[in-house]
Amino acid sequence: MKETTLFEQPRYQTAVSHFQTLYGPGDITVFRAPGRVNLIGEHTDYNHGYVMPVAIDRDVVILARSRADGVVRLANVEPEFAPFSFALSPNIPSAPPGDWSNYVRGAAQMVAQQVGEKRPLIGFDGLVVAAPPFGVPRGAGLSSSSALTVAAAVTLAHLNEWQPPLDQFAARCSRAEWYVGTRGGVMDHFASLLGRPGQALFLDCRPGENGRYATQYATLPSGYQLLIANSGVKHRNVGGGYNYRVAACRAGVALLRRRFAGITHLRDVENVDWGELEPLLPEETAVSNLIQQGIDLGDIPNLPTDARLRVRANCRHVWSENWRVRQAVDALNGGDIARLGQLLHAAHASARDDYDISCPEIEMLVGILNSQPGVLGARLTGAGWGGCVVALVEAGEITAVVHHAQTAYHAATGIDPDVFVCTPSGGAGFVAALER
Ligand code: GLA
Repeated sequence: MKETTLFEQPRYQTAVSHFQTLYGPGDITVFRAPGRVNLIGEHTDYNHGYVMPVAIDRDVVILARSRADGVVRLANVEPEFAPFSFALSPNIPSAPPGDWSNYVRGAAQMVAQQVGEKRPLIGFDGLVVAAPPFGVPRGAGLSSSSALTVAAAVTLAHLNEWQPPLDQFAARCSRAEWYVGTRGGVMDHFASLLGRPGQALFLDCRPGENGRYATQYATLPSGYQLLIANSGVKHRNVGGGYNYRVAACRAGVALLRRRFAGITHLRDVENVDWGELEPLLPEETAVSNLIQQGIDLGDIPNLPTDARLRVRANCRHVWSENWRVRQAVDALNGGDIARLGQLLHAAHASARDDYDISCPEIEMLVGILNSQPGVLGARLTGAGWGGCVVALVEAGEITAVVHHAQTAYHAATGIDPDVFVCTPSGGAGFVAALER
């Protein structure tokens, strides 16, 4: 986009004037990072499996002006997010849990560790612009947190002239987000950095021996649109549910290793029949019981020893979901859209029943969408426990489906859902510079 066009848009005009009120006149550089919607492949990434996300046309924007003293000062156009500052270093102290600055601190620490030895670190004065309607909806399972992490990382990498290959950058951003206490996988950061207009990213989340990741793109079918419906139920990864699932998968690997020596992730048994795996996995067990058996689950914050893990069902979801993602790629490449729809249905059932990450409102929304003509498949997207549903819809029916979803969901729950058509967007990076 040309600078003049961009800075004439009301979103940017307001942001520039806000920035200048905070930091005075001068140059401004703009960066952005989109959120993502995952078409299929849920909770497979941290198991070295497959995912198929799309970068969405809602993003986190950062306006920045470099500082030679290595300090980062950041404000937000939304006043509920308090401004903060810190000095760049390979070891940045964290703010209290839940503070939004931790995503930026984690990203900044990662960039500082990568470039810090080579030259003095460049910080910045910045303003985050992620308010509705253009920002990534928060707590909606559309990776608003990862978009903030990636936006901060992209800003600092650019200012410090660090240009790693995108897959390496995405993997580092993912690890940087562990700073906040979650143990998420690589999907969100890959989608945000490597997204392409009109396409879904098929990512193998297992790096090769050289540490590189294999990516492919699948073009979304013409004549269909991706619809996102936000249940309005806030989801949070910084809580027990997500890390419990990570623990259940790691427990499954440890138990299966007794039969399949050398495996490290559930991905390693993708070609073994489920019937062979099932008897090796307990239906449910407590963390303390696993510890007694000498099983080490590794570093997982906030995992009490009395937590109960549904090891068998959770592992079955991951095992079957990997298969579905590969089928979905074939369906997309072969133009078999009906098949893709069936796979979305099956993925939702597995996420609900085996991974246990749905909730009544999401079930209501999925049911409403699936009852509509033109909807090929609808499923919970993202980590779960609320957030959004993604649906594949015939373009000719989209207006009617959006309207019906809004009215029927409101009538059933009293919640006004945000229902919108998603246009797959390009990946994160530099947007424009304004020289004053
Ligand atoms: C969150 C995590 C991702 C992924 C999804 C579930 O978005 O950040 O890494 O695990 O949940 O598929």
